[in-house]
Amino acid sequence: MSENKKIRLGIVGMGNMGKFHAAYLLNKKVARCELTAVSDAIATNLEPFQNQVKTFGSAEAMIHSGLIDAIVIATPHYLHTSLGILALQSGLHVLVEKPISVHKADCERLLAAHTDSKLVFAAMFQLRTDPRYKKIRNLIQQGDLGEVVRFNWTITDWFRTEAYYSSGGWRATWKGEGGGVLLNQCPHNLDLLQWFCGMPAKVRGYCQLGRYHNIEVEDNVTAYWEYANGATGVFITSTGEAPGTNRLEIAGDRGRLVLEQNKLCFTRNEVSMREFGRTAKAGFAKPEVWNIELPFDPSGAQHHEIAQNFVDSILDGVPLIAPAREGVASVELANAMLYSSLLDKAIGLPLDGAAYEAKLLQLVADSKFEKKVVAATGEDFTRSFTK
Ligand SMILES: NC(=O)c1ccc[n+]([C@@H]2O[C@H](COP(=O)([O-])OP(=O)(O)OC[C@H]3O[C@@H](n4cnc5c(N)ncnc54)[C@H](O)[C@@H]3O)[C@@H](O)[C@H]2O)c1
Repeated sequence: MSENKKIRLGIVGMGNMGKFHAAYLLNKKVARCELTAVSDAIATNLEPFQNQVKTFGSAEAMIHSGLIDAIVIATPHYLHTSLGILALQSGLHVLVEKPISVHKADCERLLAAHTDSKLVFAAMFQLRTDPRYKKIRNLIQQGDLGEVVRFNWTITDWFRTEAYYSSGGWRATWKGEGGGVLLNQCPHNLDLLQWFCGMPAKVRGYCQLGRYHNIEVEDNVTAYWEYANGATGVFITSTGEAPGTNRLEIAGDRGRLVLEQNKLCFTRNEVSMREFGRTAKAGFAKPEVWNIELPFDPSGAQHHEIAQNFVDSILDGVPLIAPAREGVASVELANAMLYSSLLDKAIGLPLDGAAYEAKLLQLVADSKFEKKVVAATGEDFTRSFTK
């Protein structure tokens, strides 16, 4: 344990998320870590920090300043790749916001820059610390649920207004963001799904572009996933539906898990459903079940927990909760659903990253969309991740 050592941290991108990270760091919520510098391309975004830490108008200057050992990247997504590569090549530990990059080929470029194993490279997937999701993962990994046969995740409570989309020039454009709800709101859900069940073998996506909003990217999605063992999944998401639903159901050989409205219920088959199906003499018989409402600690899912784990990993070598290399999976899933919809056919995984990048570049080149930026009012940004 390195009690006396402190990590000097810098943040690049002092918008919604960067300011949020700065607030808990300045409030000393992360032990053995000191916020020493922040950077933003817009000078007014730096003003609140001028008397507290060193401020930089250029990310490159902060990276090369010698004032930081580690960096949090909280800029629009495309910059995660270029700034992440620069920071890693400059010998900094990196904690990158989700999604780690916009598309799979960029993820691979970014991850390839992590050549020095002494540097810690993590991603901000704070839902991995949520006790409900940790419990679901444990039930699957320990075999309590049996082999997973199906999931359904309807996550349509990502409601966003037109004002949200107008609030940032980069948002919801092919050029500035590279996607919509799948890339901005859903990386956490997609990361959890692959954390629970691994990657599917193919996906078929139906993505509606600008169905509810004046945007050019997807804001409403229904997708079918299929795994190598025949397990299936349906993933439904939207930023246009209110009140919206957040219901995750996972069925396995030994029962069914449902997480909805902060209730996690496990209906457990007393015996294997497949074995029962094979051996029962009666035609309409079903395995007996136990109904269990699983208790969980309401804390967790906090960004500062991931930041603390990042610092502890640098100083003590503790394993990362969310290594950046695992962040490629959620990007690949988002890309594959969108690509499938654009090509109107199922897409096999692993995704051809170069082909998808070419398609995205074509969307950028063909875009006629003109964005009008209007500052949103009455904003409570933390509502984007507190339910
Ligand atoms: N983990 C989470 O819960 C969570 C929640 C929201 C957003 N995010 C992620 O955080 C990132 C930022 O999102 P946001 O909502 O804060 O966006 P935002 O638009 O509010 O902030 C982005 C900031 O980056 C700055 N910036 C742009 N280019 C820059 C450059 N070259 N150098 C320095 N600064 C630059 C902008 O001026 C702006 O202040 C996104 O990747 C998003 O997906 C994560």
